[in-house]
Amino acid sequence: MVRVLFVCLGNICRSPMAEAIFKDLVKREGLESFIDADSAGIGHWHEGSEPHEGTREILDQKGISHEGMLARQVKEGDWDDFDYLIAMDEKNLNDLKAIREKNDVVVDKLMSGVPNAKESDVPDPYFTGNFDYVYELVSEGCVQLLNRIKQEHTFKEEN
Ligand code: 4NP
Repeated sequence: MVRVLFVCLGNICRSPMAEAIFKDLVKREGLESFIDADSAGIGHWHEGSEPHEGTREILDQKGISHEGMLARQVKEGDWDDFDYLIAMDEKNLNDLKAIREKNDVVVDKLMSGVPNAKESDVPDPYFTGNFDYVYELVSEGCVQLLNRIKQEHTFKEEN
């Protein structure tokens, strides 16, 4: 199983949106028995909260489930439990690198996988209020991330 953890600051806006979009893509491709995803925040402030209303609204509009998602903080065991830690912005990336526990875990930024990306960081809609734009960027990032994972791993059904 390949495991992906999306990381932002509060785990209520961007990373839960990425988790939901990515899982939806994985499901559409029939890869859910091979790839799993979760999300977490650098900060602890919103632990136990459901995604922000703006994130829930845009996911509902797009028919993407966010059922049962609750915020949590990044924790020590994440370095053992995940293969890819995917940050939403440069600050999240640097914060993750500062607490890096293992070198065999990929630590990268979502938008770094998007050729000619409009933004290198996913802007924080908690402050900008622009959840539509974040949805657009995160969707592009998730498509490219899934392509990357499919290139880096082979998924075969066992009969
Ligand atoms: P997120 O947005 O990192 O995309 O979940 C934020 C949510 C909450 C806060 C900051 C960013 N906050 O400061 O509470």
